[in-house]
Amino acid sequence: MTAEAMKSQDRKWPEEGVSRVPAWIYSDEGLFEREMEKFYAGNTWNFVGLEAEIPEPGSFQRTFIGMKPVLVTRDAQGEIHVLENRCAHRGAPVCWKQRGQAKELTCPYHQWTYDLGGNLQSVAFMRGSPKPNPGMPKDFDKKNHGMRKLRTVVRGGAIWATFSDETQAFEEYVGPQVLEFVDRAFNGRPLRLLGYSRQIMPCNWKLYFENARDPYHATLLHTFFTTFGLFRADAHTRALPSDDLRHEVTFSWFDGKAAEKNVAMSDDIKNIQTDLKLHDMEIVTPRQEFADGRIGTLEVFPSMVLQQHVNTLAVRHIIPKSPTSTELSWIYFGYQDDDETLRRLRLKQGNLTGPAGYVSLDDSEVLKQMQPVVQNYPDSVQVVEMHGRDHIGISETSVSESMIRAFYTFYRREMGL
Ligand SMILES: [Fe+2]
Repeated sequence: MTAEAMKSQDRKWPEEGVSRVPAWIYSDEGLFEREMEKFYAGNTWNFVGLEAEIPEPGSFQRTFIGMKPVLVTRDAQGEIHVLENRCAHRGAPVCWKQRGQAKELTCPYHQWTYDLGGNLQSVAFMRGSPKPNPGMPKDFDKKNHGMRKLRTVVRGGAIWATFSDETQAFEEYVGPQVLEFVDRAFNGRPLRLLGYSRQIMPCNWKLYFENARDPYHATLLHTFFTTFGLFRADAHTRALPSDDLRHEVTFSWFDGKAAEKNVAMSDDIKNIQTDLKLHDMEIVTPRQEFADGRIGTLEVFPSMVLQQHVNTLAVRHIIPKSPTSTELSWIYFGYQDDDETLRRLRLKQGNLTGPAGYVSLDDSEVLKQMQPVVQNYPDSVQVVEMHGRDHIGISETSVSESMIRAFYTFYRREMGL
C-alpha cells in the first residue's frame, strides 16, 4: 500500500456530515484509485459518444471511461459497439486515431486484426513461418481472443456503456426525474454534430462535478449572465436529485412578473455592471425551443453534464486524468431537421460555454485556482450550508447548495466515508 493510500484510510469525514466537505478528498491518490474502480469501472452507465459521431458502417472513435481507453465503433451491419481499446494479444492500444473510418482494426504492434465488432479476424504468422516454426498452437481459437466488449445502450442518439454485468437497466440507473430531461434532448430526432471543444482543467473531477450542480455561484461568478439578463436570482428555479442522489437536474424559467423583484435582488450582486451593451444581441436571445420553456443542466453520474443554455445543446463529457487533472470534452449538437437560422443560433450561442465561453471560462479559472489551495490545506473543511444544513431534496431556489449535499450523501454511502 502506498503512503498516500495509508493516509486516505485514516482520514475521516467531518462529524457535521454533508454540510462540510473535507479538502483532502480533492487530491488523495488512494481515494482517487478507489473512485475510478468503484465509479467509472463499476456499476455505472457512462456516456461515450453520440451516434452522430460515428455515422457510417466502419466509423469509429476513441474515448475514455474514467482512465480506461475505449473505442466506440459501428460495424458493417450498422450495429454500435463499445470495446476496450486494448489488443487481446499484448495489450497495446489497437486504435491510435481519434476518429475515422475503417474496414478493420489492426494493432500496430503485431498486426492482429479485428473487425469493427472487436472479433479477432487474423493473427500474423498464425500457421508459422519460416519452418520449422509451427505458429500458434493448433487449438488456438480466434473466437476466444477478441477485444473485450462492454454492455452498451443507445438511447435517443446517445451511446452509454458499462464495464459491469451487474449495472441495473439504463432507465432504472438514471431514474425518472433525470431521465425525463435526458429524453427531452435525446428525443429520437436524428442529431446533428456541430462541433467540439476540449480542455484540461487542472482540478479534481469532483470540483467540476460540484460546480455544475451549484446554482448559488451562477449569478455571482458568471457576471455575463446577470449583466445581459440570461439568468437571474429571481428566475423560477427547480433542482431535483434522483432517488439515489447521484444524478440531478437543475432548470429554470421566467415569468414576466418576476422582473420587478430583480431590482431589489441585484443589490446583493456586487459586481453587476448594467452599463455594458452587446453589439450582437443574438447570442443572448434564444428562440423558444422546447414547449416547457425550461433551460438548465443535468448530471448523469459519473461522466456527463448535459446543458441547454439558450439554444445551445452540449454534452460536457467528464474524463478524470489524475487526482488533480480532469479533461472536459464539449460536444455541441442540434438536430438534423433544424432550420438554418436555428443551426446558426446554436453555433453562435455556443460561445457562451466551452473553454473560452463567456459563462464557462470563469468556472475553469476558479477551479484551477482552487485546486492548489484545497490540495495544500488537506485538513481544512468547506462549509456547505446554504439552503439548510441537512436539506438535500427538491429545491425551488437558485441560492442553494442542496444538490452538492445530495451528491456527498450518495458519495459517502458508496465510498464508506
Ligand atoms: Fe459556473
